[in-house]
Amino acid sequence: MTDETAVAEALRRLLANAHAPYSGVHVAAAVEGPDGVLHYGVNVENAAYPQGVCAEASAISGAVTDGAKQFVRVYVASSLPGLVWPCGGCRQKIFEFAADGCEVVSLGPDGAVGRQTIEQLLPQGFRLNATQVHPD
Ligand code: THU
Repeated sequence: MTDETAVAEALRRLLANAHAPYSGVHVAAAVEGPDGVLHYGVNVENAAYPQGVCAEASAISGAVTDGAKQFVRVYVASSLPGLVWPCGGCRQKIFEFAADGCEVVSLGPDGAVGRQTIEQLLPQGFRLNATQVHPD
């Protein structure tokens, strides 16, 4: 079982690396594979605003690059007070790789912890399977 306090500390440190000159909101995330390996990411904003990337999306890109395509847990922390939860687009991105019951753990700056499954955050999420895409 991953040490949540250690993950919270790692995410707090990584907040400094976020590139968020436009919103000023720093976010760090980690996705955990079934082997317990964590893949980290931060938000990377852009002067052309829609080109910005959320921390969760950064972490997912890193994980997939490393060959990890199933997540049992996702952690998120931010520079805002209180708990933050992934935006709608990131919920869909997480859902793509989520093991059944994949937990999203929000780690607050004061030690507060919130937990929701991805199914709670994205009820009836959209998935495709090969049969639907290639009916023949
Ligand atoms: N952001 C994330 O990186 N993850 C979230 O879960 C919520 C929002 C980023 C996007 C943008 O760079 C900044 O936070 C403010 O919206």
